[in-house]
Amino acid sequence: MKNNGVAVGLFGDLAVDKHRLTVGGCYASDLAREYGTPLYVFDVDRAVKTAKSYVDVLAREYPDFTVCYASKAFCCAGIYSLLAPLGLGADVVSGGELYTAIKGGMSPSKIYFHGNNKTESEIAFALENGVECFVVDSERELELMEKLAQKPQNVLVRVNPGVEAHTHRFIQTTTVDSKFGFSIADGTAESFIRALGARKNVRFVGIACHIGSQIFEKQSFEIAIDKMTDFISRLNELGIAVERLDLGGGFGIHYIEQDLPLTPERYMTDSARYLVKAIEKRGIRPPHLIVEPGRSIVGEAGITLYTVGAIKTIKDVKTYAAVDGGMFDNPRVALYDADYTAVVADRADAAGDREYDIAGKCCESGDVLIRSAKLPELHAGDVLAVLSTGAYHYSMASNYNRNAVPPVVAVKNGRSAYMVKPQTYDDITRNDVIPMFSED
Ligand code: LLP
Repeated sequence: MKNNGVAVGLFGDLAVDKHRLTVGGCYASDLAREYGTPLYVFDVDRAVKTAKSYVDVLAREYPDFTVCYASKAFCCAGIYSLLAPLGLGADVVSGGELYTAIKGGMSPSKIYFHGNNKTESEIAFALENGVECFVVDSERELELMEKLAQKPQNVLVRVNPGVEAHTHRFIQTTTVDSKFGFSIADGTAESFIRALGARKNVRFVGIACHIGSQIFEKQSFEIAIDKMTDFISRLNELGIAVERLDLGGGFGIHYIEQDLPLTPERYMTDSARYLVKAIEKRGIRPPHLIVEPGRSIVGEAGITLYTVGAIKTIKDVKTYAAVDGGMFDNPRVALYDADYTAVVADRADAAGDREYDIAGKCCESGDVLIRSAKLPELHAGDVLAVLSTGAYHYSMASNYNRNAVPPVVAVKNGRSAYMVKPQTYDDITRNDVIPMFSED
């Protein structure tokens, strides 16, 4: 089904039935009516299918692995209850993500704790809960671990292989000037790992990298694999065994028609095969492989529904259509200049013969969700669906302008249920205190 030249079918399992957009077997506009807008909608089967495909590909292609879902993409208890039964682990980067993962039923024995500046209380909390592994990114973290751990704790060392993947510079993580990891090229990674042997309560198990996010070129992953396996050979020469290799996440998804990602199956199959060859070529022992997909599991499983309100034409310039959401539910446009596709929920296959800037309702000129969107004529009250919003939307939402973070509704086989309940004004003000000072 096409809208403004965009096949809705490119986006997950969305379909159009009698001109109406459906997701998880539910009509989008019915969900908007039942739950109100703005509303995040999450297609459970779509996310489960992709997560399972990572596990299936690796089970076929690689001897020993863990697929760790990158929590930062979409973190709420419900997501772990879907992914843990499939055998996935989780990557967390804060005490809050760790707490949520455990609450959602993820076993700490499958949790990898990342982050470039874990606090003392976060480290203590993770140790108490017995997380499987820390991905260490500083000397300071080792000092804290020595102080707090009661027994040797597994650690991976975050290294920077120096791969410049083609993506927005704010979501690129392994350029030379990155705050993440120790550089392989300048020898810091090697000296950090050598010194680690002298630390107590720290057990070095391997190395980790993450080259960036929303990456389309599989060559970027291949370069990373070459650099990481070269580094494993080097460590082996020094007599240091590398039991685990964490290659991070980063596989890209569709936001607009011009985005041409490979399927997760293809990315993973090709990367796993490339890794197997790289290992054979260097004669190293196959490490336990960890991959950390986030966006590619949840991104296309999500859409956001809005209601169109004010429409304002600036003569000879442009027409704004304002919706009841904005940068509080999607900060990615303001942050990364991200592009999106939108359809009118009940006219999903209508020709996009008008052009609108879809504005949010926040008090910021930059609060625009889509620039120059090609859509049919819009009217106040239309439900607008923005596609591919399952990753880094709910997890990056804020209460800016004291707007409530929208609820998340899960859909499956024509049924719907809350995954995250709506925030009330009471929730928003729950921690507000009018300060009182004693009069002395
Ligand atoms: N592993 C590590 C260590 C990471 O830092 C990340 C993402 C991932 C895995 C998951 O990457 P994914 O498969 O989702 O691409 N807020 C940005 C994305 C930041 C990604 C940060 N790290 C956005 O909205 O595009």
